[in-house]
Amino acid sequence: MTRVFSGIKPTGHLTLGNYLGAMRQWAAVDQHQADAVFCIVDLHGMTVDHDPARLRRLTRQGATLLLAAGLDPELCTVFVQSHVDEHARLSYVLECVATDGEMRRMIQYKEKAAGERARGGSVRLSLLTYPVLMAADILAYGADEVPVGDDQAQHVELARDLAVRFNQRYGHTFVVPKATLPRVAARVMNLQEPTSKMGKSDDSGPGIVYLLDEPDVVRKKVMRAVTDSGREVVYDREGRPGVTNLLEILAACTGGNPESLADVHQSYGALKKDTAEAVVEVLRPVQARHKELCADPGYVEEVLRHGAEKARAMARPTVDTAYRAIGLLPPVAEPALNAAR
Ligand code: AMP
Ligand code: TRP
Repeated sequence: MTRVFSGIKPTGHLTLGNYLGAMRQWAAVDQHQADAVFCIVDLHGMTVDHDPARLRRLTRQGATLLLAAGLDPELCTVFVQSHVDEHARLSYVLECVATDGEMRRMIQYKEKAAGERARGGSVRLSLLTYPVLMAADILAYGADEVPVGDDQAQHVELARDLAVRFNQRYGHTFVVPKATLPRVAARVMNLQEPTSKMGKSDDSGPGIVYLLDEPDVVRKKVMRAVTDSGREVVYDREGRPGVTNLLEILAACTGGNPESLADVHQSYGALKKDTAEAVVEVLRPVQARHKELCADPGYVEEVLRHGAEKARAMARPTVDTAYRAIGLLPPVAEPALNAAR
């Protein structure tokens, strides 16, 4: 059975971009068709300036929202990255396979590091090594497929390169993974700045629809979306990024096709109205389920405890194999333990 792995960072409240670009596909398709593993990657949440209490809160909220979005612990594995040591164990080994040039070429690193420096801040070393940890997440589980939004394709490509290199140098150890991108909404753009991604860690609140935004807040944000000059509704990513983003969101929410949706909308106003209602409807069940889950925190904790146990059992053998292959001396097991096995 195909193994699928994906993760989401608890660096901010989850957005419509996370939902349409990733979570929805995980719930609707991946967990039914594959042996699927989903992770709140809290270690990745410390690669930029962070507040410990907020990180803890967002980690719990992120896990709750994954379940609210329809991930079913009976069908897939849901856990928190830091609960499973294998990620950090394998990451170091992969740092001994990756090169610093490779890391510095990563688009996300270049953008985030430049932003951090422009604000007069310093760049954490973990921001540079982040894609190696991400590769460890993927390779530890022997994932064949990694469903992600478009912005993560380069990182998955790096995981592929590291798997191939490791296997060539030290013997076959890792499955070589590939990214799978959604058909539409692989990159939901910021409503106020339709040339940049709707990212949860960005500050521009009005351009970002959060999964827990009240219906009226969603409507307001969509109705105030920046559109382009011109009046006709046309699907054109380059020339009409604002309108195209709305068409993509509407298509993703209704299962339609963005080009044909352009033909049936006569004005920007009508398009915004339909898009706002479609988003409200898509979020409604997720919000209702989130409310129920918040009333039962013991359930979410139990899902995460059991998820981590399952994840550990999946990752441990592969990481042990990688340790042996690369030349680390295996520890000698205690005789009593040995005999008991
Ligand atoms: P992140 O929020 O960076 O942890 O991303 C978690 C998942 O959501 C990844 O698969 C991303 O590619 C996806 N994602 C995040 N933002 C967007 C967006 N604006 N459009 C589409 N997918 C997104
Ligand atoms: N880097 C991913 C993001 O920002 C999150 C992530 C971490 C991830 N580890 C992963 C995604 C492993 C897929 C597989 O969205």
